[in-house]
Amino acid sequence: MEGDWHIDLSAGKPAAYAALRQAVSALLTGESNRTANLANAAAALFATFGWHWVGFYLVDAVRDELVLGPFQGPVACTRLRKGKGVCAAAWEKAELVNVPDVDSFPGHVACSSLSKSEIVIPVVVDGLVVAVLDIDAAAFGAFDAVDEAGLAAMVSDLESMWTTWE
Ligand code: SME
Repeated sequence: MEGDWHIDLSAGKPAAYAALRQAVSALLTGESNRTANLANAAAALFATFGWHWVGFYLVDAVRDELVLGPFQGPVACTRLRKGKGVCAAAWEKAELVNVPDVDSFPGHVACSSLSKSEIVIPVVVDGLVVAVLDIDAAAFGAFDAVDEAGLAAMVSDLESMWTTWE
């Protein structure tokens, strides 16, 4: 089944997000390995929307940093520190951050010069941010309210499965 994985974009973005949410839930149900599940969630988003980079940064509580997790796209920065960049902002505020032009975001960490806009959604479990979902696009202003709602819904599914994973 996985090999034929495809979400149809022709019915529009809201429908694609609804189909994607259902398909990713089905894909992850029955598997309890966190790396496997985050890898497939990133791959599903990447395959559907063709963004430049899709992936997760995980909170490293010992070093108080974000460390690169499963992703799709070009090689990326391995560690991100507090106080700098879009991912750190979403982590520290525990809020979705949508940046239409990365050059105008103070402290943006440019892992790739091709990234023009970025959206980061925190994964919050038991009141703590445990990871962020980071998406970069090669176009300015790539993410609208439909993306915000669709991605937040997908992340809420990951949040509710998170503690059942090892
Ligand atoms: N641009 C991010 C860094 C991660 S890469 O986009 C994959 C930031 O400012 O935090």
